[in-house]
Amino acid sequence: MKGLILVNAYSRMRAFEVQSSRLAEEFEAIGVEADVRRNDGFIASVADGKVSVRAEGYDFCVYLDKDRYVLRALEDSGIPVFNRRSAIEACDDKMVACLELAGHGFRMPRTIPGMLCYDPEEPVREASADAVIRELGLPVVVKECYGSMGKGVRLARSREDLMAVMEQVKTKPHLFQEFVAESSGRDLRVIVIGGKAVGGMLRSSGSDFRSNVGCGGKGTAFELSPEVASYAERIADALDLDYCGIDLLFPGDGGDMFVCEVNSNAFFEAFEAATGINVARLYARHVADEVAQFYRGRRESARSLMAHR
Ligand SMILES: Nc1ncnc2c1ncn2[C@@H]1O[C@H](COP(=O)(O)OP(=O)(O)O)[C@@H](O)[C@H]1O
Ligand SMILES: [Mg+2]
Repeated sequence: MKGLILVNAYSRMRAFEVQSSRLAEEFEAIGVEADVRRNDGFIASVADGKVSVRAEGYDFCVYLDKDRYVLRALEDSGIPVFNRRSAIEACDDKMVACLELAGHGFRMPRTIPGMLCYDPEEPVREASADAVIRELGLPVVVKECYGSMGKGVRLARSREDLMAVMEQVKTKPHLFQEFVAESSGRDLRVIVIGGKAVGGMLRSSGSDFRSNVGCGGKGTAFELSPEVASYAERIADALDLDYCGIDLLFPGDGGDMFVCEVNSNAFFEAFEAATGINVARLYARHVADEVAQFYRGRRESARSLMAHR
């Protein structure tokens, strides 16, 4: 069995490098060969009216990028991809993820999709800001739908603040969200692999309402209650994720935690350091088991087809 670990071509961040090299290391440790390749080799194309992918010799792909075109081509070519396309695409857009998770009984902060503006010259209307404030109050969270590491997440504390933020984000997909004040600067990151919550990390920042490690958040191991573990497992299952990091916000009332965000490509370096859990090993093992099962299933159905001829 041989795997391809595909990483973004442009990213030079150390965390990306650690993610792919740790995974490759753990695949090797369980006897699975895996190559790390940058996503700029142009491995996918449409030629002669057909999708063509140059990934010969690989039995599976761990897709550490989010580019949806190569992702789709890879999956259409029939190779097992982790996470699967539908899951990566749902998580990539925070509003899509929110809509997907609705209706499953999870507690989520009240959220309104932002209206996209196609003309940068067109000013945000005061009435639009007032409508958001009427629905969600102040302060209110504004998120760009495509963003990570806290970068596209802002807190508007006043009407003027909100107008200014709306101006900044109006031409990008964005959403407005109720601010869960009790959880300000704190959240719980849970990693789920193959349907099992493997552990939790409390992230807290003394200087920012965002608890991302990149915003000053510090991670410490957090023991998951069976209820929170199974809650996180149900969230991962709802999005069909083989691997994810779920951000949960603490409520003030002792009820269920709020689902803040689900990351299909969650970094695990800080989590491994805080918890001592070998996330890369668990993920590599899960992928290897799934891939073995996939090819076993294919062989069996080929045999049964032959038997029925
Ligand atoms: N509705 C909210 N109420 C309180 N804090 C929030 C809320 N949404 C996000 N945060 C804080 O901001 C951080 C980043 O938001 P998140 O949606 O996870 O985006 P990112 O993809 O950038 O991590 C969260 O980890 C949390 O600490
Ligand atoms: Mg997050």
